[in-house]
Amino acid sequence: MPRLSAQANLFRLLLDPFLDSVHFSEEKGKALDAGAGPGILASFLLKKNPNLHWSACDISEEMVQYCKLSYPKIDWKVSDVRALDYPDNTFDFIFNSMVLIHIKDPEKALKEFYRVLKPGGKILITCPNDKTFTGPPVLQEMVAKHAQIHPADRYVMERVPSLMKDLGFTLDARTDFIATNEGNDDKPQLVYPTIHLGMMTGWSMMSFMGHPEGMADVYSRCQSEYMSNRVRFTLKIETHLYRK
Ligand SMILES: C[S@@+](CC[C@H](N)C(=O)[O-])C[C@H]1O[C@@H](n2cnc3c(N)ncnc32)[C@H](O)[C@@H]1O
Repeated sequence: MPRLSAQANLFRLLLDPFLDSVHFSEEKGKALDAGAGPGILASFLLKKNPNLHWSACDISEEMVQYCKLSYPKIDWKVSDVRALDYPDNTFDFIFNSMVLIHIKDPEKALKEFYRVLKPGGKILITCPNDKTFTGPPVLQEMVAKHAQIHPADRYVMERVPSLMKDLGFTLDARTDFIATNEGNDDKPQLVYPTIHLGMMTGWSMMSFMGHPEGMADVYSRCQSEYMSNRVRFTLKIETHLYRK
């Protein structure tokens, strides 16, 4: 939860100008944050557009319990995005951030989004695409190995546009945010659509890659290369806005 919270706090710097560019503050009605995690972004979206009535869900009971206490203005529920516990045509706006890369059968989630969105409703889907990762060979190796071991599809954003089209969605807007470390010690800085993370923040964002079994060796080689040679990397975070 601390890493997810730190990530969300950085990510909202990128989301903020994107949301302005698509006139998010003019949206009205009911909204859902599907897979809301620690709730930082749901709370940010509520502040950014108080005209929307927010519901939010996550598959993790622990996250939802925490969020219920921290953000009581939002209606929280434990629910799997592949079988959403909401009636058909409920929402005017859905937000789905950093979730699709973690689930098997993302197609089921996209179908569910279509079902619970009202006709004319919008959905914002955002996730990194690990195929877009650039960096030195040892980092590339770590990212590719993690994508192999990871139980879901770290490249899913490549498939999302055609899956959404097949379901009947149309693409309204798209921006690829870039997260980068340029080998300096600066604190994170936004030059939209790029966020310059700096050395330590950049590494902390990748710490999850050391957790799965079988990653320890490549992760520790990467860490020592990263620290001793101030390595640089970039990663695209694909951000799509669709309309039903
Ligand atoms: C990387 S976090 C992103 C959290 C938040 N959306 C954000 O961007 O800060 C991924 C979240 O998806 C949730 N999640 C994973 N699989 C899910 C599923 N099938 N249904 C609902 N939530 C799920 C996890 O519990 C976790 O909180």
